[in-house]
Amino acid sequence: MSPLRVLGIETSCDETAVAIVASNEGALGGRIVEERLLSQLEDHAPYGGVVPEIAARAHLSHLDRLVAETMAGSGLGWDDLDAVAATAGPGLIGGVIVGVMTAKSIALARGLPFVAVNHLEGHALTARLTATQDDPLDFPYLLLLVSGGHCQFLAVEGVGRYTRLGTTIDDAAGEAFDKTAKLLGLGYPGGPAVEQAAMKGDATRFDLPRPLKGRDGCDFSFAGLKTAVRRLLEEGTAEALPPGPLKDQDTADLAASFQAAVADVLADRSANAIATFRARHPGARHMVVAGGVAANAALRARLDGAARDHGLTLIAPPMALCTDNAAMIAWAGLERFAAGFTDSLDIAPRPRWPLEELQRRE
Ligand code: KG4
Ligand code: ZN
Repeated sequence: MSPLRVLGIETSCDETAVAIVASNEGALGGRIVEERLLSQLEDHAPYGGVVPEIAARAHLSHLDRLVAETMAGSGLGWDDLDAVAATAGPGLIGGVIVGVMTAKSIALARGLPFVAVNHLEGHALTARLTATQDDPLDFPYLLLLVSGGHCQFLAVEGVGRYTRLGTTIDDAAGEAFDKTAKLLGLGYPGGPAVEQAAMKGDATRFDLPRPLKGRDGCDFSFAGLKTAVRRLLEEGTAEALPPGPLKDQDTADLAASFQAAVADVLADRSANAIATFRARHPGARHMVVAGGVAANAALRARLDGAARDHGLTLIAPPMALCTDNAAMIAWAGLERFAAGFTDSLDIAPRPRWPLEELQRRE
């Protein structure tokens, strides 16, 4: 297959991102030709979370310029592209509309095919972007998708073909990190701050719950874990956490104890998910972890062990491709285009869009 080049746009949360990716000669992997990413962290930080209206306006203010910069930096012309892709959901709808309308306008003006990408499919396929001849990632593989809004195991059986094996029954893992960070006064976004604090902490100091650990199936629950941290902070116990303001060491120990509990749960649930997945696909070899929480080095190390113990090799995309970015959207767009899926300019952005619904659309 000759190389393809696709422009991708991501605006579903608080990153305005544009990228051009190209597939390699042959069928495996690709490379990022050029990319721009503008984080809105500072705009949202005072509110302790993403404010949808601020996000949408910021996307609107910056997206055109980032597209122009990406094109100029790539040295490519519009005719060198094979398609334009944008996140069409799930996500904060104001931002999604900005990205989708921009991509549709480019497609219409330049006569290029448009690909509406499900943000989760972007996360799901990213690991194939960095795959190589020596280190290929073929379908099917087991995916643990852990982000701010999602926490699920999926059997990835092909482009657009996903079977959900388990999901969270309350909070997503990233949400648990963010809420715990808020309780600990570590600010927003919580994941990286908790990981940083945990490095200096004693993970054995606080005995936090491991929800659903040891139970059948591969669903998750994180709400109880966050509540346990809150109770500790509110009630404390004389010897566990003396009253008064938290000392830096207390914060570090709480962060480390929390992260260890999440790691234990992810490893336990992974063992069950791998068993279910291997029953469906006995010859499969890989487990992939993707989404913002996959940027956590301690969790990656733990999942690596869990996968190996149960006969699979763990693949985690480079850190920068775990959190939201446009290369993953361009790549998912490229894979969809290569598989023959393009979308009409009539397609509507979707605030909710479960991955399993992709199959029905085709
Ligand atoms: O995939 P992502 O960038 O956005 C969504 O689609 O949700 O994921 C963001 C989530 C946030 O909850 C953030 O706190 C979490 O990923 N996260 C982390 C780390 N980096 C980002 N969680 C734990 N450790 C990290 N290093
Ligand atoms: Zn994401």
